[in-house]
Amino acid sequence: MKLKRPLTITVANAKGGVGKTTITRYLPFVLAERGYKVLVVDADPQGNLTKTMGITKQRYEPDKVFVMEKSMMAAVVEQDLGSAIVNVVPNLDEIPSNVDWGSFPTYLAKRFGLAEKGDPDYYEVESKKIVVLKNLLAPIKGNYDFIFIDTPPTPASQWIRNATVASDWVIIAFQTQSDSLDGAKLFRDNDLRELIEDFGADTDVLGILPNQVSNSGAIDQIVIEDAIEIFGEQNLFQHIIPFAKRIQSAPRIGLTREGYWNSRLFNDVIDPLADDFLERLKIVGEIEDGE
Ligand SMILES: Nc1ncnc2c1ncn2[C@@H]1O[C@H](COP(=O)(O)OP(=O)(O)OP(=O)(O)O)[C@@H](O)[C@H]1O
Ligand SMILES: [Mg+2]
Repeated sequence: MKLKRPLTITVANAKGGVGKTTITRYLPFVLAERGYKVLVVDADPQGNLTKTMGITKQRYEPDKVFVMEKSMMAAVVEQDLGSAIVNVVPNLDEIPSNVDWGSFPTYLAKRFGLAEKGDPDYYEVESKKIVVLKNLLAPIKGNYDFIFIDTPPTPASQWIRNATVASDWVIIAFQTQSDSLDGAKLFRDNDLRELIEDFGADTDVLGILPNQVSNSGAIDQIVIEDAIEIFGEQNLFQHIIPFAKRIQSAPRIGLTREGYWNSRLFNDVIDPLADDFLERLKIVGEIEDGE
């Protein structure tokens, strides 16, 4: 299925540990396998995505020594994000992050000043800060079909605001065993609403993606029903990501289909997720007609 235009996507939730990075690891990997040109941007100072991609790269090129030559923070300071791009596997590139990405809000404050909500110059200062990542991605966006941005669990932070503003679509993920449905709602009603309504951000919700459901859990079903009530059934992904122990191995072994359990994970969980994702893009009119 061919895209009408390149798309930037962020997986979001105002709370942590809901599967944002997990989804941002596997979905781009599968899309790259299917022939799409994909870039993943690690906009989380924890660098979890960078670690997985480093191990994945090393796995595919065992004879080469993997060195992170430039961090995202260095490339942002130089105002040249393209200079930090590293190829991971065919069709999949990344912009890696390090702990120095923790300085991003400080960098923005030094460049544009500090203004809190309620200050007379808040909108002027804030509207300059929130578009920095979008503007830096603009020159490289045309080289890709998809750019995926991973974010930290820090609501209202510049990491999340910049990633959201840079994105054409956000996927709001939540986990059925925690209070992360509240985090999903908070993200929509606070972070996203303010960026769209007050700052005119051109972004929208592609879908609400429930993660880590145990089929037998009564609580999980109640949370799903609550999600349907809050967001509307048509806005939920068809494919709920099940609890899959194997998903937890990616930070240790990298991304691969090799081996029985990995190939089962891809067949049963990741491939259907990618199908569902592309189907949703079709519904919202991002796929070329006739595809
Ligand atoms: N479907 C799943 N089945 C089993 N384990 C999962 C599943 N989804 C996520 N996990 C595990 O849950 C933990 C949190 O997931 P992940 O790191 O993707 O969340 P996150 O939202 O990115 O967290 P943070 O907010 O800290 O960045 C990880 O250990 C991950 O392996
Ligand atoms: Mg994460």
